[in-house]
Amino acid sequence: MHSIAVFSTQPYDSESLTHWGAGQFNWQFVSQKLDTVTASQAAGSNAVCVFVNDDLSKPVLDALAALGIKTIVLRCAGYNNVDVAYAKQLGFQLARVPAYSPEAVAEHCIAMILCLSRKLHKAYNRVRDDNFSLNGLLGFNLHGKTVGIIGTGRIGITTAKILSGFGCNVLCVDPQPQPQLPSDSCRYVELAELYQQADIVSLHCPLTPETFHMINQQSLAQMKTGVMLINTSRGGLIDTKAVIEGLKSKRISYLGLDVYEQEADLFFKDLSDHVIADEVFQRLLTFPNVLITGHQAFFTAEALAQIGQITCQNLHALLNNQACANCL
Ligand code: NAI
Repeated sequence: MHSIAVFSTQPYDSESLTHWGAGQFNWQFVSQKLDTVTASQAAGSNAVCVFVNDDLSKPVLDALAALGIKTIVLRCAGYNNVDVAYAKQLGFQLARVPAYSPEAVAEHCIAMILCLSRKLHKAYNRVRDDNFSLNGLLGFNLHGKTVGIIGTGRIGITTAKILSGFGCNVLCVDPQPQPQLPSDSCRYVELAELYQQADIVSLHCPLTPETFHMINQQSLAQMKTGVMLINTSRGGLIDTKAVIEGLKSKRISYLGLDVYEQEADLFFKDLSDHVIADEVFQRLLTFPNVLITGHQAFFTAEALAQIGQITCQNLHALLNNQACANCL
């Protein structure tokens, strides 16, 4: 039976992979993230299974290659954490889970928009404190608002369709436009027009060298005063320090983040008994109009089931030299 080292394992990962790969694989669950130090824990395995914050840069790939490992499966869609070109040069076979429930992420994005627009994060605490005053909770209707969607792939298009149902006017930017976009409420525009017109800007493009820090001082300066910014894609799309300045100057009135550039040191862990040294992250938490979730958008029962199932299918195909549609 093939042995698989699973890095960054959480209890829900081991449960799901054990279920979907029952009788097929010998799982070695490792709770730490993969890096140059932990790579040795893959010794004796036939493949490694990794997640969003595992490090698959050149030195880590060298370490895995030295252990004789040739197969890497990602139990996620994004692969900005993998040096794909170098992995291929070393002869690795790589596969990912390209499409697990885009609805999970799109619905989380909508949840963040509604939570911020109706100040539910504040209302929840108030009512628990027997404070039923509405002062300071004034919201705004989504109906009639202009929403900018950057990246209309699987998640962006699903988000655009949901927002159309709310009666929003949706402006989209994507170098590869999609024909399935609802034409009555959504249209493609140039990025500059999106920034100028949108009341809400939501990011759904991958993190690449071109999109790194696309939300920065210059792009924020083009946006409407009072804009809502939502990022459920990857933290590196945003220059967080510029966004903090945008919050202080009130250019940004609402910020919803499910991802954060330095999240690898924070997210997916219980740090409630620790002192968090990341001062940029701590500053973000001081704003009353900032909502942060810890890379949770994918986390639905439906998405987890698809991730487990497709990861096991990818492993089965790659380790048995069969065709795999999800190869990178
Ligand atoms: P996808 O590959 O289906 O779509 C990405 C779209 O972005 C494509 O249409 C592409 O043409 C477009 N794009 C590329 N560069 C662009 C640019 N410079 N400007 C505008 N558009 C650009 O990907 P999918 O499945 O929709 O996922 C989007 C992102 O969401 C992923 O890259 C991943 O980083 C993130 N994600 C986050 C999750 C979470 O739990 N928070 C879970 C799953 C994905």
